[in-house]
Amino acid sequence: MPVTVAPASASGEFRIGGDLPVHRLGFGAMRITGKGVWGEPRDRDEAIRVLRRAVELGVDFIDTADSYGPFVSEDLIREALHGGGDRPYGAVVVATKAGFVRTGPGKWHTLGRPEYLRFACEMSLRRLGVEQIDLFQLHRIDPEVAEEEQFGVLADLRDEGKIRHVGLSEVGVDELVRARQVVPIATVQNRYNLLDRSSQEVLEHAEQHDIGFIPWYPLATGELARPGGPLDDLASATGATPSQLALAWLLRSSPVQLPIPGTSSVAHLEENVAATEVDLDAEQLARLDAVGG
Ligand SMILES: NC(=O)c1ccc[n+]([C@@H]2O[C@H](COP(=O)([O-])OP(=O)(O)OC[C@H]3O[C@@H](n4cnc5c(N)ncnc54)[C@H](OP(=O)(O)O)[C@@H]3O)[C@@H](O)[C@H]2O)c1
Repeated sequence: MPVTVAPASASGEFRIGGDLPVHRLGFGAMRITGKGVWGEPRDRDEAIRVLRRAVELGVDFIDTADSYGPFVSEDLIREALHGGGDRPYGAVVVATKAGFVRTGPGKWHTLGRPEYLRFACEMSLRRLGVEQIDLFQLHRIDPEVAEEEQFGVLADLRDEGKIRHVGLSEVGVDELVRARQVVPIATVQNRYNLLDRSSQEVLEHAEQHDIGFIPWYPLATGELARPGGPLDDLASATGATPSQLALAWLLRSSPVQLPIPGTSSVAHLEENVAATEVDLDAEQLARLDAVGG
């Protein structure tokens, strides 16, 4: 039955690049592919349902990449959500990435040659069925290619209007500062969760410069959601599930945090989105902080 409220809106708003408003709790579309992020998902109909239900629940920020599948995640997003017209995804911001080639399940190879990044952008435009990609992220800086060339092609694609905003992934503060000398950076996507705060400095830099911080692996691949895991006690005390606690903590840790929990199931999606409604007092937040601090 369609819902009349959009719980994801309770996560608050962030303006990507200053002009693309999204609810802060988004969705990561890597888990709607096959094992090893390769090929079709086990249950394709459920993957389509997950995407549509996310939007019904008010999720308007979806993260994907050409390398998820490869291509499967972008294709499913188009099939589930493309509505035609000038802005085929309506208010939903679809962020994709380029910079990896795939040679099999679980196999990822960095490739940041400018002609390859341009090719990847053209193919994502075609697959997603858009004239402009809302947010185009460099999946990794390729150490074999001069970084100015990689940032440079992102600047060119932005100037040409093929992409609206540029994001980076898995970078340190120094790389972020150097990239910003070449092209405005709207978001940074680094691994970050209750148990892994190694990107804390990058998060603080992002907050100072109003750059969206997209913490991937927000649930530590379900480790934080596991019964008997580190959040179990607090979960019984608050009535929230462990994954909701992990997400609620992320949302409160900074106004620029844009978590994108990934799942292949509608039930997990609904549970994760309901994290926006979890109330935590100062003592409970401090206990959560202490879990991985
Ligand atoms: N930039 C990068 O390099 C990078 C790398 C990895 C991922 N990402 C992005 O970040 C997103 C999130 O990362 P992630 O998928 O690796 O990690 P995650 O969101 O922390 O964890 C996803 C895993 O947790 C399980 N899960 C989700 N909700 C659950 C719940 N409520 N209860 C129990 N288990 C639950 C999922 O299994 P079920 O399917 O069974 O729910 C899935 O195996 C990805 O989808 C992708 O968009 C980016």
